[in-house]
Amino acid sequence: TLQHGSFAELVNDQRPATIDGILADLGMSSLQLQDAARGFSFQAEGALDMRMNPQAELTAEQVVNHFDERELADVIYEFGDERRSRRIARAIVRSRPIRTTVQLAEVIAVAARPMNQAERRIHPATKTFQALRIFVNRELDDLRTLLNAAPQVLKPGGRLVIISFHSLEDRIVKDAFRERVKQGHYRLLVKKPVTPGEEEIDRNPRSRSAKLRAAERV
Ligand SMILES: C[S@@+](CC[C@H](N)C(=O)[O-])C[C@H]1O[C@@H](n2cnc3c(N)ncnc32)[C@H](O)[C@@H]1O
Repeated sequence: TLQHGSFAELVNDQRPATIDGILADLGMSSLQLQDAARGFSFQAEGALDMRMNPQAELTAEQVVNHFDERELADVIYEFGDERRSRRIARAIVRSRPIRTTVQLAEVIAVAARPMNQAERRIHPATKTFQALRIFVNRELDDLRTLLNAAPQVLKPGGRLVIISFHSLEDRIVKDAFRERVKQGHYRLLVKKPVTPGEEEIDRNPRSRSAKLRAAERV
């Protein structure tokens, strides 16, 4: 059966000990990234949307144009791991209204110029876009709910597999697995996260930051 819902809703709707396996492939898909109208990419002009679920209420446009400077800086710092969050937030507030992805990327690029060679390789807006996306979709809250509910809904021997794409997510997954192993709920199926090899990264560069962790319900 196909069911549309967040990771949190999907696990919360299940009866105890009824599920054989859960595979959560976190983040956004290439199809979403490539669709300019969804507003995920700073390289394609589109409305500032960024909702994974188009029926959800909050959009990036509302955060960018209506949050106060302090709240905006906190979102960018917490979910983007962006050191220059205050400077970026100030520039955004001064440039309002900001309506499109490319307009936002340009405001950020002026406010946070690359300081060195390493920074020049990634676009200055990368972390801010990540932060807005995670915040708009409450991605880390959903992930925590999924991780909390999984041991109750999995059958003994049932498996939980999570593919994460950045360190904020992976830390949450790693800590939750460790805690549940300590409590005797899981046995780890892989000690270290599984990551793509060189050949896979060549074929699919977007796989480069993926980490897969897997556990079995005891
Ligand atoms: C990496 S993509 C999945 C790609 C898919 N496995 C494939 O191979 O084509 C992640 C998907 O999960 C969805 N998603 C992200 N966060 C979610 C959440 N909290 N709840 C439900 N779905 C979510 C996104 O909309 C996206 O379609």
